[in-house]
Amino acid sequence: MSDWTEGYFTDVGYTFGYYRELNPLHAKIALQDYNVACPEVRSACELGFGQGLSVNIHAAASTVQWYGTDFMPEQTAFAQKMAAASGVHVQLCNDSFESFAKRKDLPDFDFIGLHGIWSWISNNNRRVIVDFLKKKLKPGGVLYISYNTLPGWADFLSLRHLMTQYMVSTADPRQHRLEQVRECIAFLDRFLATNPGFALVNPNIRNRLKSMHKKDAHYLAHEYFNRDWYPMHFTDIVQWFQSTQLEYICSARYLYHINGFNISSEQEAFLQSITDPVFRESVNDFMINRQFRWDYWVKEPREMNKKERESILQNQQYILTMPVSEVSLQVTEALGKVDLEPEIYKPILELMSDYQPRTLRQIEEELQGKTLKFKQLYQGIVVLLGKGCMEPVQAEESMHQTKAQTEGLNAFLCNQSKASNDIAFLSSPLTGGGIAVSRVEQLFLQNFRQGQRETQQWVEYAWQQLSAGGSKVVKEGHILNSPEENLAELHSLAARFAKERLPMLRVLGIV
Ligand SMILES: C[S@@+](CC[C@H](N)C(=O)[O-])C[C@H]1O[C@@H](n2cnc3c(N)ncnc32)[C@H](O)[C@@H]1O
Repeated sequence: MSDWTEGYFTDVGYTFGYYRELNPLHAKIALQDYNVACPEVRSACELGFGQGLSVNIHAAASTVQWYGTDFMPEQTAFAQKMAAASGVHVQLCNDSFESFAKRKDLPDFDFIGLHGIWSWISNNNRRVIVDFLKKKLKPGGVLYISYNTLPGWADFLSLRHLMTQYMVSTADPRQHRLEQVRECIAFLDRFLATNPGFALVNPNIRNRLKSMHKKDAHYLAHEYFNRDWYPMHFTDIVQWFQSTQLEYICSARYLYHINGFNISSEQEAFLQSITDPVFRESVNDFMINRQFRWDYWVKEPREMNKKERESILQNQQYILTMPVSEVSLQVTEALGKVDLEPEIYKPILELMSDYQPRTLRQIEEELQGKTLKFKQLYQGIVVLLGKGCMEPVQAEESMHQTKAQTEGLNAFLCNQSKASNDIAFLSSPLTGGGIAVSRVEQLFLQNFRQGQRETQQWVEYAWQQLSAGGSKVVKEGHILNSPEENLAELHSLAARFAKERLPMLRVLGIV
């Protein structure tokens, strides 16, 4: 491995994920739930942006000035191509964290985000990042950080050791790295088939291996085959940030804000008996056996005042981003499947099904007579946001300013979908973030933009693109083989797209 990689797995590119937690508006809503003020975010930075989908969606769809870096040249080149397509001024560098931190042309930031970085880098790079947070995050500024957590990964630590040992001692150096990764997984299958004592004491290892089989090899390579792979306890990260004036505020996953999905009422009562907040959070991770955290921290946080709270209730709008027919009244989290009360959720969903943005106050007023208390309504909105079927709406001026940028980016992304199904998100000037749109829907959309209005034409166009590249439609996890099956499914998807999705994408400013 050459020097610049610093032990990071750079032989193949990473996946093209989109992470809404990196959207400063998403952070604002989370912090508001904890009564903590969020600054007006003007400048933001993403460290290790990977293929750059999140940073580009956020830069194109908002008026925030975005910066970022990733040291893999092909990924940065792709990210810069997306930026050129949207025409947005975003500074995407191909620097290592160390060189990026030394740049003199960076402003101070209101928001810094890093997703899927912290656990996969060396201590030296962690020190660079901590120093960057100290110097470049403004007081009141927000940090989003995600990382692999203990105790959730405890059973896997030794197996991962075995995997790295396999790579050093047994992998065939003539093979492509992805082939080596697959061979290593096959080795683990053979190993577990012998019923080793390790698997008897750690039975969950078998489930982990099963889930690895379902994952993209690019993801597996980056997740498990770096030199550094270091899940941490919550208290470790508190130690790391000790000198930064950052305070942990809350999870970036809204469903963790509400009791009853991840911890039982008995566990909640136990946690409430612990006075030290850091120790309480650690015990919480043991309750959930948490293996990943998505967290917001704030530098020198301050409480929101009454005016700020009132302004959010009066002005912050929300919108449904999924047809009601697709919203299940269940949540699946650490405690398993939990049913949502129809008396609370049905009226909210019915009201919001016209895809009109509304504030909490407006929802409250329009639902008068439905005997919903404000607390239930508020919690209902947080849950629907957490489930990913609702999004906050950004300020109207930003919407107008960003429309042309999102159009440029979306046209580029839809064009990509002709050849691959890597990217399943488009950018919305209404929400300032990404909206899930599948490859087939992107192809329909592209044909729609070319002026075709009949579902028959969309189907023909999509099938032409898919079959030209040897791709098939996947239905409920199964690949459809014959052209007839593919066309039948495309017809049903096109009908749904015309009836359910297109009206929604129009409101979201994507069409
Ligand atoms: C697991 S990927 C996550 C990418 C992206 N944040 C995402 O979640 O899609 C880690 C990324 O960090 C980048 N990276 C790792 N070490 C780095 C370093 N020292 N300097 C800059 N980028 C680095 C890699 O190139 C890779 O794209």
